[in-house]
Amino acid sequence: MKITMIGTGYVGLVTGTCFAEFGHHVTCVDKIEDKINQLQAGKIPIYEPGLDALVAKNVSEGRLRFTTNLEDAVPEAEAVFIAVGTPSSRRGDGYADLTYIYAAAKEIASFLRGYTIIVDKSTVPVGTARQVARIISEENPQADFDVASNPEFLREGAAIEDFMRPDRVVIGVESDRSEQRLREVYQPLFLRDTPIVSTSIETAELTKYAANAFLAVKISFINEIAAVCESVGADVTALAKGIGMDGRIGSKFLHPGPGYGGSCFPKDTLALMRIVQEYGESLRIVEAAVEVNSAQKARMVKKIRDMLGGSEAGKTIGVLGLTFKPETDDMRDAPAATILPALLEKGARIKAHDPKGMKEAKEYLPEGIEYMENAYAACEDSDAVVLMTEWNQYRALDLAKIKKIMREPVFIDLRNVYDPQTMKDLGFSYVGVGIK
Ligand code: UDX
Repeated sequence: MKITMIGTGYVGLVTGTCFAEFGHHVTCVDKIEDKINQLQAGKIPIYEPGLDALVAKNVSEGRLRFTTNLEDAVPEAEAVFIAVGTPSSRRGDGYADLTYIYAAAKEIASFLRGYTIIVDKSTVPVGTARQVARIISEENPQADFDVASNPEFLREGAAIEDFMRPDRVVIGVESDRSEQRLREVYQPLFLRDTPIVSTSIETAELTKYAANAFLAVKISFINEIAAVCESVGADVTALAKGIGMDGRIGSKFLHPGPGYGGSCFPKDTLALMRIVQEYGESLRIVEAAVEVNSAQKARMVKKIRDMLGGSEAGKTIGVLGLTFKPETDDMRDAPAATILPALLEKGARIKAHDPKGMKEAKEYLPEGIEYMENAYAACEDSDAVVLMTEWNQYRALDLAKIKKIMREPVFIDLRNVYDPQTMKDLGFSYVGVGIK
């Protein structure tokens, strides 16, 4: 099938490339010339494991190409996916900014030829697909098309695997022929028995928000339980196992940490609350999860301060990991972007390292943070080390060496990577999240 992907951000680029890997012929379009030039030259603007090789393979096999020209991409497409950004609105009210979606709808309308499905891939409020349909009909009354919603559930760092082996595919459609065409797009997954949930457009749009909100609630729940564990002297790791083995609860997303971040949970929880408010309803559980997440980051600042003897002023802190999670260079809403400025402001010196995110971090973090070339350089002469992101290369650090090069052997493990007893035996003053 001939597919056009509008937007070569994270979702568009991964999805377009994976469709090409399925065997479809995919054209990815973006307005940013520089990005398209880079992609044409084989340079991938984001870090996502395996993506560079998959792009190269599909380009060389003639199934994937990049252009800025809609006229060159849309007329022959049988399916046009819209995967442009839906950031939180600049007004700061949590609403999703749909400017880019509506602009894309307007721009593609006149180039549609023959029956085409227009699929919203971006995370969009309920009702957006219908607006897209209205815009296209107004712009080009002759256009023969259907709109559909097909939310993505890709995790950064594991996006290709998530795409190729999804738990399910959700398609929101309103006609048999659009359903048929979307099923053709995902045909290779049917062969792997991937369940397809076919539903109304509104249900599909809301399913994405509900999934992310539920996961955000789950993380905030375990983060709050972790705080209770600290107070009563319980161990959240064992507790998470104890509850997670119950099939109704499930063991995933029960890892306490410095709070969830990234491009989805913070933005989508806020947007969902706004959608719900517009209908005169409220989602108190999601509101609480958002509050707990902010409190969690503040609690981490206090944890670090306490481990530094009550004040971070004049202390040197080595920080391992800056991105919101491992295997990505994404700094959007990373807990580090809240926690580190708070420490800097109180007079701490911060020496940080991240395997892939330092370039991005410089744009998100205030000046004054020193970026080090490796983990050990970040730990050297520090009064405390904070393990912020659980990159694999921080999981087997030479701890004896670290203890030797630090000024004070204080290790604050915000991802519970290390075993408390081992750390104690090595002579560290160690603290995790929700463990004794
Ligand atoms: C998420 C959803 O998982 C994905 O389905 C959706 O399409 C996009 O948003 P992503 O943001 O890439 O994906 O990362 P995810 O692995 O879900 O982690 C999000 C945040 O939660 C990270 O900051 C992570 O560190 C944190 N987290 C996750 C925890 O603190 N504990 C956990 O147990 C799991």
